[in-house]
Amino acid sequence: MLRHEDNMALTQVGPETPMGRFMRRYWIPAAKLEQIAEPGGAPIRVKLLGEALVAFRDPNGKVGLIGEYCPHRGASLVYGRNEEDGLRCLYHGWKMGCGYVLESPPEPPTRTFAKKLQHVSYPVREAGQLLWAYMGPPELEPPFPKFPWLNLPESQLLVVKMHQASNYLQGVEGDLDPAHPNYLHRDFDLEDKESWAGAGWESIAHLMSDGAPVIHCEETPYLMRVGAVRNTEKPDVHYVRSTEWIAPFYCYIATGPRESRLFKAWHPIDDHNCYTFYVHFDLEKPIDKEAAYSNWGHLTSPPEYKTPHSLANMHLQDRERMKRGNFSGVSGAAVQDRVVQESMLPIVDRTKEHLGTSDKAVMFYRKLLLQKLKEMDEGKPLPGQDPSLDYNQRACSFNLSADKPWQAVVKAQEDYERSLGVDERHLSTANAVMAQ
Ligand code: FES
Ligand SMILES: [Fe+2]
Repeated sequence: MLRHEDNMALTQVGPETPMGRFMRRYWIPAAKLEQIAEPGGAPIRVKLLGEALVAFRDPNGKVGLIGEYCPHRGASLVYGRNEEDGLRCLYHGWKMGCGYVLESPPEPPTRTFAKKLQHVSYPVREAGQLLWAYMGPPELEPPFPKFPWLNLPESQLLVVKMHQASNYLQGVEGDLDPAHPNYLHRDFDLEDKESWAGAGWESIAHLMSDGAPVIHCEETPYLMRVGAVRNTEKPDVHYVRSTEWIAPFYCYIATGPRESRLFKAWHPIDDHNCYTFYVHFDLEKPIDKEAAYSNWGHLTSPPEYKTPHSLANMHLQDRERMKRGNFSGVSGAAVQDRVVQESMLPIVDRTKEHLGTSDKAVMFYRKLLLQKLKEMDEGKPLPGQDPSLDYNQRACSFNLSADKPWQAVVKAQEDYERSLGVDERHLSTANAVMAQ
């Protein structure tokens, strides 16, 4: 359980809140680039960390992310005209650029007050099919994170955006929970377990070998990593899965040898809603996008990026399938996660929990984040912001000799991949601090 004030500190994301200020110290995804592909096209609404914003690509191709409401009398700029360097409000023709009011045509030329007004605007970058924003103090802008998937060709990168009707932390805590797949994601009804291979989860069958994994956690320069160690039918072999966490809300989910990899971001829309970004990628070869959609169940489209499942329709749960061996009665791992995380209501009351050994990583994360919030207020450096970090991380899942430390899973998997002829450049380096 958690004290009420700590639950609030970890879940509230507005500009004046501790977690809101922490998240604003990082580059974070604001939208998919497909939403603003056309120069001079329609602006889009972007709600991020509780702030109402609008993103647009001006007729010259320049991208902006500015406050949604006109500083004159508050009309929404999503309806505005997309002009060179800014958006022009429909109501009285004021034009807002990135940071300033550029024109206020109904005012006589002698009235210059509008030009002195500032208008909210955040720096943006385009990378990895995403629009990224930095919403923190300009003097504290961190280096842009060099994720290895950012510059991959379209065939090797699938970026999926999915709306979730819950606070972001419920999503994060699902990814911090190595035991839940044995239950929530179990599906004895699956005709072909190999069908998971294209989705980056070939190892689902291994995972089912032990429903009570031993969980390990450690802090890293990026934030933390988790290891889940499972027994197998051989007493001297463990099946180990690692997860790499990067502040403020990114993680790599373990995938097996030569499988596509999976990066996730939990983008808080406001305190009660978030988007999950699933980034499926392969550094060497094209990925099977159809298999990813089919196994994760996260096919969505703009502008809402929602699947048909919701609390109102019980996420289309099928009790006949449950009788046949599907544990949840719902298809797709991403939707199964949403069933439980949305069912907890928008912000789960963590003062009422009863945490056990399987919640070790959840407890470790909360304690670590509360400590980082305190360190932020003391002016200490934040995780993941050292310019020397190379961001070339990897989360692995592999069988490991039982006498090896769990951290050796990355090296063991990569040694095996080397023997298969994987290009050395595509192996990780940032896990080098893990045990050899
Ligand atoms: S409200 Fe926008 S110009 Fe008047
Ligand atoms: Fe899950």
